[in-house]
Amino acid sequence: MTGPVLRSHVIGCGSYLPENIVTNAELAAKVDTSDEWIRTRTGIRQRHIAAPGEKTSDLAVKAALAALANAGATADDIDMVVVATTTPDLTFPSVGTIVQRKLGMTRGFAFDVQAVCAGFIYAMSVADNFIKAGQAKSALVIGADTMSRILDWTDRTTCVLFGDGAGAVVLNAGEGGGTSEDRGVLNTVLFSDGRLHDLLYVDSGPSTNQSVGFIRMQGKEVFKHAVTNIAASVEASAAAAGVPVSAIDWFVPHQANQRILDGTAKKLKVDASRVVSTVALHGNTSAASVPLALSTAVADGRIQRGQLVLMEALGAGMTWGACLLRW
Ligand code: ACO
Repeated sequence: MTGPVLRSHVIGCGSYLPENIVTNAELAAKVDTSDEWIRTRTGIRQRHIAAPGEKTSDLAVKAALAALANAGATADDIDMVVVATTTPDLTFPSVGTIVQRKLGMTRGFAFDVQAVCAGFIYAMSVADNFIKAGQAKSALVIGADTMSRILDWTDRTTCVLFGDGAGAVVLNAGEGGGTSEDRGVLNTVLFSDGRLHDLLYVDSGPSTNQSVGFIRMQGKEVFKHAVTNIAASVEASAAAAGVPVSAIDWFVPHQANQRILDGTAKKLKVDASRVVSTVALHGNTSAASVPLALSTAVADGRIQRGQLVLMEALGAGMTWGACLLRW
């Protein structure tokens, strides 16, 4: 399709990690694990853990304020807030409306999107479609999670993998010519397969047993699905934009595990130098990890105006997808 189209331009990004850093060695003092096992199996060296009383919305607000400052915008400029999270402050209301209040916003609308580790890609897709439909001219898209709150700290197969954090972007409606040369989001592709529930889930919930529960995971199976499905979604996104995967300048993946990043890059024949990796510094922060990695690569000057950026993720459900944009 060519001709004038609405495009969602990313005009700012930002992130926040809680102050408290827990190293692998500190974890090894509590559960039967070792720095060597965690580093060689996952690439993770440390994770940030929210302070007692520090909620998902607190992390989200700090990331949002950083993104707004980076965009040169204020909360008054925002029409919609979408928060990707799987660890809300409360069962309801949404983290989105709590963030709206904490930012002092008195107009617009806010809600949450729940697609676990793929949540930020889903939230980007939702916001992009609202902008393309003309229902919002600007959006604050946030990925924020406090996974530490739903970890079984006696289960070494899961507790070493996750951390807390938040990242955000500000989107603004702009015009494009309808080609892959346009600035902004070129496409988003989303997938899910509810049959894969048992591979990764939380074992409680409000309508099951009025409780919050803990993460349960079949790590090896998740790993296999991750590499295959993420690679397929990258190819689907590139094909939808009519560009070869080799034309993509930067890959900004969900930061679950360095071996998943390496395996996916190898499958796609992408050089590791084009893959943004921050997993060593904060572990798997679920919906926060893509905007955390994006903010890092924008702040250090790697991602430059005009370049093609591919964000991708896979999470429980299972859910997965990709978002291709020109910076
Ligand atoms: N410390 C020490 N030993 C451990 C630990 C630990 N933290 N965890 C497991 N082990 C042991 C196991 O008990 C097992 O011992 P055994 O051989 O005596 O039975 C041994 O290590 C090997 O366990 P495996 O599960 O086979 O280890 P594997 O090489 O598959 O690595 C891992 C496990 C890292 C979880 C891997 O499967 C993985 O990365 N999976 C992807 C999971 C993931 O990233 N999930 C995040 C959510 S989904 C997403 O975001 C994409």
